[in-house]
Amino acid sequence: MTNFTINGRAVTSEADGETPLLWVIRDDVGLTGTKFGCGIGMCGACTVHVGGRATRSCITPLAAVSGADITTIEGLDPHADHPVQRAWRELQVPQCGYCQSGQIMQTVALLKDFPNPTDADIDAVMTGSLCRCMTYVRIREAIKKAAA
Ligand code: FES
Repeated sequence: MTNFTINGRAVTSEADGETPLLWVIRDDVGLTGTKFGCGIGMCGACTVHVGGRATRSCITPLAAVSGADITTIEGLDPHADHPVQRAWRELQVPQCGYCQSGQIMQTVALLKDFPNPTDADIDAVMTGSLCRCMTYVRIREAIKKAAA
């Protein structure tokens, strides 16, 4: 049994401790905004925050988050109106949209560490968040808009 919180809600999971956190979030808790892309920690689609740090949930075993506070895309703002989400909408960042919740979660973590990020800061932090639609230019603009 593993206890943790997701978006402020207490959760007890009976899943095996080796179960990837991603599947507990999606299948057991029912929060499907967090996506499966590669399953090996290489694409960023599954990014959530664990204790405020951007974390690839596909390679994080459930046992590793015992007692942790987890935030998913659904927990950023009750009206999906977090400043980063607003910037994403205003600049119409998504194309297919599949990777974008991971991009947004990575960006929120980036802006905690770099409130006014340079291009080099953005490159260093966002390089592991892949987008097959190549929305990278709009992502960069939205990051700067959210920081402004
Ligand atoms: Fe987790 Fe790709 S699905 S990093």
